[in-house]
Amino acid sequence: MEKDISNTHIEEDSNDTMSEIIEIEKTEEVEEPKLQVDLQVDQLDGVGAVTKKKLEAFGIKNIIDICVRGGQEVSEITGVDKAKANNWVFNSQKILEDNDLVRKTDMEIMELLEYQESQPRLASKCESFDGLFNGGLVSESVYEVYGEFGCGKTQLCLTLTAEAIAQGQDVIWIDCEDTFKPRRLREMLIARELATEENANEMLEHVRYFYTPNTELNVRLVVLDGAIGQFREEYLGRGHLSVRQNQIARLMTHIKNISFYFRCVVLFTNQVQSDPSVMFGDPVKPIGGNIVAHASTYRVYFKKSGKKRLARMVDSPEHEMLDAAYQLTVKGIEDVES
Ligand code: GTP
Ligand code: MG
Repeated sequence: MEKDISNTHIEEDSNDTMSEIIEIEKTEEVEEPKLQVDLQVDQLDGVGAVTKKKLEAFGIKNIIDICVRGGQEVSEITGVDKAKANNWVFNSQKILEDNDLVRKTDMEIMELLEYQESQPRLASKCESFDGLFNGGLVSESVYEVYGEFGCGKTQLCLTLTAEAIAQGQDVIWIDCEDTFKPRRLREMLIARELATEENANEMLEHVRYFYTPNTELNVRLVVLDGAIGQFREEYLGRGHLSVRQNQIARLMTHIKNISFYFRCVVLFTNQVQSDPSVMFGDPVKPIGGNIVAHASTYRVYFKKSGKKRLARMVDSPEHEMLDAAYQLTVKGIEDVES
């Protein structure tokens, strides 16, 4: 595993997979030819062959990547000034908006309301858990789940993966703790009756393990299992704190942008630590500090409660801070039988 996981998985593995053209299927008329949108970086003013090469060396293959990385990083990579890099980001964003590849940034309120109401939800089928989110997780959002070992964070990731791939959607799994087990996912698909012994392996093909988001994929879910813990191991000690926090901040920017530009759910899991200053109440808190706290749209705390588990909504711009009971079974996360 390389040092900077944001580089390892989101930047450099992308060489063969990132395509320059995105194809939009027209759903109403099957005979219509596919509309091709030019996503090449050299359509931007001032991006010539040399800059294109520099960008490519850092895994930036198209204008979506330009947006995901943002002006600061693009400026660092290419050596152009920040204003120019910001301009590239701005113009790339505009092209994506004009071609309906991303949500418009200036929607009317009623339009936004309708858009949000009609967003499809990725459900775990554990009703109590899904109930925390009005039925399931939505794209263009970042979800954080934290809790102590064995509380079911990875099982949740697997459960949602099983549900997404059973609908023919793709999942990108960035494994930071070597806990991804295709065998377990296969078992879950069959236990949930989403697949049979015969077609389960075919569904597993929808998971891109350690790959970078690819514009050809129909990505529904990006999982980062154990993302923040990795930094704690690599930047031990107070002396490394600011470097560590900068690296985490950059990763958080990337995943937020990925959720928006790839219109997918991003789910990352986080470890916990015990805060010795808490005298009363629960001393357990997620690691990563404020940078992580602010990066996620929704935060959920997984807690052991005897044999059962509780999912607690800790932070959400739109949901009540409720508890939901679940259990871990062969099916992944499941409702507790009453
Ligand atoms: P860390 O990554 O160590 O922080 O933990 P985690 O929160 O990711 O825990 P994980 O999701 O790996 O959950 C582990 C728990 O799930 C263990 O208590 C297992 O017993 C339980 N588990 C895993 N597979 C099965 C299964 O097939 N059946 C049942 N009943 N439980 C399972
Ligand atoms: Mg885990």
